Amino acid sequence: MKNTFYVTTPIYYVNDIPHIGHAYTTIAADVLARYHRQMGKEVFFLTGTDEHGQKISEAAAKVGKNEQQFVDEISVRFKQAWEKLNIKPDGFVRTTDAQHLAAVQTVFKKLLAKGDVYLGEYEGRYCTPCETFWTDTQLVEGKCPTCNREVQLLKEESYFFKLSKYQDKLLAHIKAHPEFIQPESRRNEVLKFIEQGLKDLSITRTSFTWGVPVPAAPKHVVYVWFDALINYISALGYGTDDANFKKFWPATAHVMGKEIVRFHAVIWPAMLMALDIALPEVIFGHGWWTVEGQKMSKSLGNVVDPLKLADEFGVDATRYFLLREVPFGNDGDFSLQHFKQRFNTDLANDIGNLFSRSLNMCDKYFQAVQPALSPLVLTAQDKELLELVKALPAAVDQAMNALAFSVALDKMWQVISTANKYIEVSAPWILAKEGKQAQLANVIHILVEVLKTLTIYVAPFMPDTAEKMQIQVASLKKGEPLFPRLELK
Ligand code: MSP
Repeated sequence: MKNTFYVTTPIYYVNDIPHIGHAYTTIAADVLARYHRQMGKEVFFLTGTDEHGQKISEAAAKVGKNEQQFVDEISVRFKQAWEKLNIKPDGFVRTTDAQHLAAVQTVFKKLLAKGDVYLGEYEGRYCTPCETFWTDTQLVEGKCPTCNREVQLLKEESYFFKLSKYQDKLLAHIKAHPEFIQPESRRNEVLKFIEQGLKDLSITRTSFTWGVPVPAAPKHVVYVWFDALINYISALGYGTDDANFKKFWPATAHVMGKEIVRFHAVIWPAMLMALDIALPEVIFGHGWWTVEGQKMSKSLGNVVDPLKLADEFGVDATRYFLLREVPFGNDGDFSLQHFKQRFNTDLANDIGNLFSRSLNMCDKYFQAVQPALSPLVLTAQDKELLELVKALPAAVDQAMNALAFSVALDKMWQVISTANKYIEVSAPWILAKEGKQAQLANVIHILVEVLKTLTIYVAPFMPDTAEKMQIQVASLKKGEPLFPRLELK
């Protein structure tokens, strides 16, 4: 079995500063990376910024900056945001990096030599905000079908990628690999799209210069998506560090929002096929966040800043909420009210109280040493909780392998709530009063097992909290509360 794990996020456009949507994908990838690292895999977690193209060029011009200076400034904002959110990528790729640029040119030359790239003329529509070419029939009432904005008419000399050539091979691959595009709904959309027929893709532009110049035809710059997708191999060292590339490729999971699955599940695999490179294992398109029921947008002024949220409620609570609130793959709504409620119920009450009560009793009745189990006096409820906690690793593993973060957390919280009820039902304070030492030892022993197991599985989601839990479990003494309750108005 392969012992490496390569997970990526989209590389984010630098015309915008990081918001909760970007944070969502990147936290999810970080949790996956941490989980698999903990499971003994050699992990490479890649994120980065997408810095070329007309949209970025226009955004720079709008604030009167030159492009390089503009992208340098925003790219660093993404890096800082990830640091603050305790996201620890192994690589941060920028499409303006020399290594990436060289890889794009290598790919271009290879495909040109092979005949999979050819010179022609593009005539059709283009949506700049989405950096997407559209045919007339794809438009909805003359507007971009993705963002509903005006499109422009383009007519320019252009190089094309022979996407059509890979249509059948791609369909066959998707059909033979049900796990390739997830969730199922995204897979069906992609299948439908391909079955309508693929056209060759225009992959260069001549009306602006902010991009990777085409070797030997520098008035052309490479189309921003063709450029950007290559980040997933350029960052590993495609064309420069073959050993590292071979070690981690193919990617285990490309994680992204649902709106860009098509680029990853159609154009990208076709490019890889043309290059004779193996395809990634999983392309996962998660859902979109709205905010208090509305689409998040600068013009509505409702963009949620993940850094503010982390300042106010803590990094771990932010990470927890995003992955717990909505099943990965579904759309979800961000509501501050829900956030605070979950904070108090799931974090302050459920897990916080379990730790403080269990450790309190371990300290009080057993001088902070985990007592041994007395198998002869195990009750039915002892056995039930013991079994539940023993089953947790497999349950979490299954969920994590399916990128079902909310399910993994739910499994943990089932153990937590069972353990909290178990304390009530077994009433250790009465056992102590009645001198039932062996029975009391069993209860405390089992509770400590629960805390130890939770500490391990909470760690990828809430790394700092898990460290606090670890310290408390090592000393078996109650420490500071893990999550002090919020006062709700
Ligand atoms: N630059 C391209 C990706 C190139 S990848 C080779 C791009 N960038 S982006 O800045 O627009 O980022 C899009 C991604 O940000 C989405 O795919 C998703 O991961 C995240 N999200 C942006 N807004 C979001 C929500 N409202 N909700 C959830 N995720 C969202 O597309």
